[in-house]
Amino acid sequence: MRLGVMCSGNGTNFENIVRTCRDDEVVIMIHNKEKCGAAKRADKFGIPHTHIKSKNEDLIIDVMNAWKVDLIVLAGWMRIISPKLIEAFPNRIINLHPSMLPKYKGLHAIERALESGDDKTGVSVHYVNEELDGGEVILQEEVPILPYDDVESLTKAIQRQEYAILPLAIQHVKHQLQT
Ligand code: GAR
Repeated sequence: MRLGVMCSGNGTNFENIVRTCRDDEVVIMIHNKEKCGAAKRADKFGIPHTHIKSKNEDLIIDVMNAWKVDLIVLAGWMRIISPKLIEAFPNRIINLHPSMLPKYKGLHAIERALESGDDKTGVSVHYVNEELDGGEVILQEEVPILPYDDVESLTKAIQRQEYAILPLAIQHVKHQLQT
């Protein structure tokens, strides 16, 4: 599969996809912050990348099509995707979210889980539809919240689980697309 990854930040999940999805190829990475960690990681691995403002979805669609992308992976893309982009890649956009959806949709999911007093949260990968973090869940995994956890330690635990499940979710979607 030809993957197009979209990032807004550090890009650790992007790097993890590049390292682990050996049978698939990240052909392009789009970032909406000019000098972000994801761009530096793309340079390190020689992955083509381009900065596009999130409002400019026509260009995002053109770039993804030009690179003949089969699947778009939102790996820390912190903007809402419009119906136009969703319609251009039906069932071909997936998103990584740091909670056990449907809990804690939207921003600050980790902080809200911590404040809730719950003893567990999780990570989810889901298809993107028009409802924010509301598309069909592909894979999710629980993460315990330990009594001494703070935002930093829980974020680390969540990210460890993200590195495990996002590549698996990509493989799952690949099989779905092939059947
Ligand atoms: C990840 O934890 C991902 O779940 C989250 O952004 C982080 C990106 O980290 N995404 C969202 O919150 C989307 N609503 P990374 O840039 O190091 O991969």
